[in-house]
Amino acid sequence: MIKITDILQLTDKQKLALKHIGKGKIIFYGGARGGGKSYLSHVAANLFCYKIPELRCIIIRETYPELEDVFISHQEERFPPNLFKYKYQSRSNICEFQNGSRIMFKPLDSAKAARKIMGSQFQLMIIDEANNYDEQTLRKLLGSVRNTNPNINFKSTVLMTGNPGGQSDFYFKTRFVNPDYKYWDKGELKYKDNYVFIKAMVYDNPYIEQQYIDMLDTLPEDLRQAWLYGNWTTFEGQFFSEFNHEHHVIAPFPIPKDWHKVMGFDIGYTKKHPAVALCIAQNPITNELFVFDEYVGIGSTEEYIETIKEIINTYNINIVYADPSMWNDTKKDKHTDESPAFMFLKAGIPIVQANNKRVNGWRIIKQWLHWTEKRSSKLKIFDNCSYLIQTLPLNKYNTSSLVNKEDCDTNGPDDAIDALRYAIVTGFGYPLGKGNEIQITEETNDFKNFIALYNEEIVKENNNDDEEEKIYKRYINADGYYSNYAMY
Ligand SMILES: Nc1ncnc2c1ncn2[C@@H]1O[C@H](COP(=O)(O)OP(=O)(O)OP(=O)(O)O)[C@@H](O)[C@H]1O
Ligand SMILES: [Mg+2]
Repeated sequence: MIKITDILQLTDKQKLALKHIGKGKIIFYGGARGGGKSYLSHVAANLFCYKIPELRCIIIRETYPELEDVFISHQEERFPPNLFKYKYQSRSNICEFQNGSRIMFKPLDSAKAARKIMGSQFQLMIIDEANNYDEQTLRKLLGSVRNTNPNINFKSTVLMTGNPGGQSDFYFKTRFVNPDYKYWDKGELKYKDNYVFIKAMVYDNPYIEQQYIDMLDTLPEDLRQAWLYGNWTTFEGQFFSEFNHEHHVIAPFPIPKDWHKVMGFDIGYTKKHPAVALCIAQNPITNELFVFDEYVGIGSTEEYIETIKEIINTYNINIVYADPSMWNDTKKDKHTDESPAFMFLKAGIPIVQANNKRVNGWRIIKQWLHWTEKRSSKLKIFDNCSYLIQTLPLNKYNTSSLVNKEDCDTNGPDDAIDALRYAIVTGFGYPLGKGNEIQITEETNDFKNFIALYNEEIVKENNNDDEEEKIYKRYINADGYYSNYAMY
């Protein structure tokens, strides 16, 4: 037997990943560019096929030219056939090992190709750049990997790689990068100890050329964060590229009683699509909107009614802009045979059917989120609204349809943004004109100064108003956030 370390010099992260192979794990390796992901995939396939007789291994990439470029063209030079004891069959793209094992190089570029792969049996499935596939396809692929040969001393394994910026980033983020069990279904939770994430970045790979690191370093900031550091919050393809945590998320302050408050409500009954209610208030002077509270739940229509009633009474909200599907007869409640909208109205909740023009609605939300170095955005979110804050940046463009290319992908976590859209598009008009705009100069770039300037503007504005003697003033707490609002 050849000693692998005599031929290949693996990085520590690559060695760590290899230790998990053959043990029934689902491994996600990488999470940033250039960490030696494809190389590891190639080594894993060859090493285990060489070691374990009768092993069925598949290496999947999106297209054949990519497979050729990344794997096949390096196969014989990296893994000499006389040492590893295999023959490469170029017609079928299969490496056949003397011990009966085989590596199949397979492009997954169509539903038909996916069905074929799912119908075959593999004990080692390697999906390079796995987050380019949608979650459903991935789950089906994962489900098709099983130990079919009882003689094999190898527990079936899936090895996936990927960088932020694919279709199923949400899946990889919540399952591997920052596991968030509220998104896992029963089957996943049962085997949660089998999920392994090994974060490998370009700095873990001594074999990379400096030119590659320089290229990553000069990328636009969002992409640099994503690809160089494996930051999964800001990635290419993010639908709301305007969203910036530092800018839009603020510490809560008590909402003054006289501010107009509304709720946006998106109904749902499953873990993937829960019901979401967002409470939004508008500052009557600056016209800014503040998302100040949220509810996220999975329950029955009756339970939602109870909770929503309690929230609107607590905050004195007098209108709820709701998901138009609640008026559908097809969504009638099993027990009462009434539409959810009818049940809400009967319970005294003031719901109004929201405007549901999606593309136009998103444009309006983007307008509210828009900001520049000199002008603050008109929409802010209190930091207690964690579901909205977490899911808003995870929504992606709909890349599957050319017609709806300005729409976001409905496979993503879109419940909170739908609730936001219902409330904002139907409930408020975007303030036009320069009247209340807050100019930020270079000296006032830091948030504390910005708030101080903001207060000054408000006081000035009200002082100029001779028929009204009301003067508003905000108090700034030590962190620079406005913590209270008083009228005198
Ligand atoms: N253990 C190793 N020994 C020798 N070369 C290696 C090793 N690991 C990675 N490399 C080399 O480093 C470079 C980058 O590796 P690789 O292509 O596997 O990274 P990656 O994470 O797949 O990158 P990308 O994000 O661009 O797909 C390649 O030239 C590869 O051959
Ligand atoms: Mg690669």
